[in-house]
Amino acid sequence: MKVLLIGRTGQLGGDLIRNNPGHDIVAPSRDELDIGNRGEIDAAIDGCRPDVVINTAAFHNVPLCETDPESAFRINCTAVRDLAVACRKVDARFVNFSTDYVFGGDQRTPYAEDDRPQPLQMYGISRVAGEYAAQASAPEHAVIIRTCGLYGRSGAQSKGGNFVDKRLRDARNCTSLEMGCDQVVSPTSTEDLSRAVWQLIENRRLSGGIYHLVNEGECNWYEFTRAIYEIAGLPVEVLPVDRGGMSGEMRRPLYSVLGNKKARAMGVVMPHWRDALERGLTGPRG
Ligand SMILES: NC(=O)c1ccc[n+]([C@@H]2O[C@H](COP(=O)([O-])OP(=O)(O)OC[C@H]3O[C@@H](n4cnc5c(N)ncnc54)[C@H](OP(=O)(O)O)[C@@H]3O)[C@@H](O)[C@H]2O)c1
Repeated sequence: MKVLLIGRTGQLGGDLIRNNPGHDIVAPSRDELDIGNRGEIDAAIDGCRPDVVINTAAFHNVPLCETDPESAFRINCTAVRDLAVACRKVDARFVNFSTDYVFGGDQRTPYAEDDRPQPLQMYGISRVAGEYAAQASAPEHAVIIRTCGLYGRSGAQSKGGNFVDKRLRDARNCTSLEMGCDQVVSPTSTEDLSRAVWQLIENRRLSGGIYHLVNEGECNWYEFTRAIYEIAGLPVEVLPVDRGGMSGEMRRPLYSVLGNKKARAMGVVMPHWRDALERGLTGPRG
């Protein structure tokens, strides 16, 4: 298949390229294709004529979305609409990503794909809007993959590195730190996610709609941090702190574990988060 991949310098984009099972990937840089520019989207898709467009780009610095909602909506919603329309015109599959932050966090069992979104902050609101925009513009072509807590070899640039990188950096500067125990999540390695994305795309039964793809199991950030130091053999004391899901004035969901119900039914199975973390910390990084 011919694949147009957006976000090649990102965590997921980088691993999609590394784990490419043999497709013909065209991966323009952000300078060549800025998804905030509709003309550039149309020119790229018209010129490339892909079978699949995978967009891993997003405006996903959560606090920044509160102060700059215009940019959040431009990239997370309007650009997603523009990509979906361009894909429909050339009959290309459109794969876009979304987030666990579309949910409100009232549940205590994993969210299914058809559970009702109830975002708590501008980031989540802009992502739900993007999901609707893609589905309204190209219902047959748009595949939306919600995921959570990504970490990969190339740390998320826009966030100053991923969670695992930051904790390893912390270990160089302190012997004790506080970590939130109030948010239960599904931390997910982009190594595993990228492989699952390719499996999903190659599956003949894939149809338009929403899918969840996260590493199996659940934990809070305090438990995840303890696991990082335990596996890496770093003597850092981790103290649990409960902020009730608040970051300043902004609310985050207290529980946003996703259930991979639809992908699992199609034979796409994700490893447990602890197994993924062990492989991530003992394998090659950088
Ligand atoms: N990271 C998480 O914890 C998390 C959680 C849930 C969902 N997700 C979603 O999963 C997807 C992949 O996340 P990720 O962590 O791999 O992201 P990432 O590491 O931040 O990478 C984003 C990529 O998109 C590019 N990009 C950003 N804005 C762009 C624009 N306007 N036009 C073209 N390219 C642009 C970036 O280029 P530059 O390098 O030039 O900035 C980078 O290559 C995103 O949709 C994200 O929101 C992530």
